[in-house]
Amino acid sequence: MINLKSEREIELMHEAGKLLAATHREIAKMIKPGITTADIEEFVEKYLAEHGATAEQKGYQGYKYATCASVNDEICHGFPTKKPLKEGDIVTIDMVVNLNGGLADSAWTYPVGEVSNETARLLEVTKNSLYKAIEQAQAGNRLGDIGHAIQSYVEGEKYSVVRDFTGHGIGKTIHEDPTVLHYGKPGKGMRLKEGMVITIEPMVNAGTWHSKMDQNGWTARTVDGKLSAQYEHTIVITKEGPKILTEQ
Ligand code: MF3
Ligand code: CO
Repeated sequence: MINLKSEREIELMHEAGKLLAATHREIAKMIKPGITTADIEEFVEKYLAEHGATAEQKGYQGYKYATCASVNDEICHGFPTKKPLKEGDIVTIDMVVNLNGGLADSAWTYPVGEVSNETARLLEVTKNSLYKAIEQAQAGNRLGDIGHAIQSYVEGEKYSVVRDFTGHGIGKTIHEDPTVLHYGKPGKGMRLKEGMVITIEPMVNAGTWHSKMDQNGWTARTVDGKLSAQYEHTIVITKEGPKILTEQ
């Protein structure tokens, strides 16, 4: 069932989203060789508490942390660790902020120090694919238009789109209907409506899209050991078009 949101609900989610965007801006300043994803985790918990918010992922389905921190070949749901990040690594920080009951979800991949041109291109293409998908998030369009925008662009750039994890509706809980696939056919799938709030969160691999699960039961990584990047925004579909709730 799809929950269309009221103006008030959207406003609360937007407030959460602005705080989430501010948190990402602070993280961007912290990221450099030598810092750990445990440092980022600690920062996020403190920063959200200072701003009257909580980390919705902590305790969600038994997940233990405020952030997911996925390094290099980790696709998503990496655990924060005390291992220092090194020059040339990439790290995706994904989190869900709860501010006064409004939720917002956004992930960003950060380069650590200087990265290779090829790594920078993966980040660029992944980020572009998110914004191309957001352009398709118009009332009257279909979910397949979103998936197709990502898949056609990413595959044209000779990268692959992860199939095993998806975007989603979001509202009172992190995951609601619909499931938002990052691949698909134009004109297919559910029609988008004003008041729908969804995440779009393409995970793009440098090699094959196939993933494998770590022993911890959470962390997915690429089967070929190549890099994976991800950018995610929470958006609302309005009369005037898509509005990003996790940007400012
Ligand atoms: N933020 C993640 C997403 O984009 C949710 C991760 S679930 C968690 O859907 F339990 F790992 F936090
Ligand atoms: Co999400």
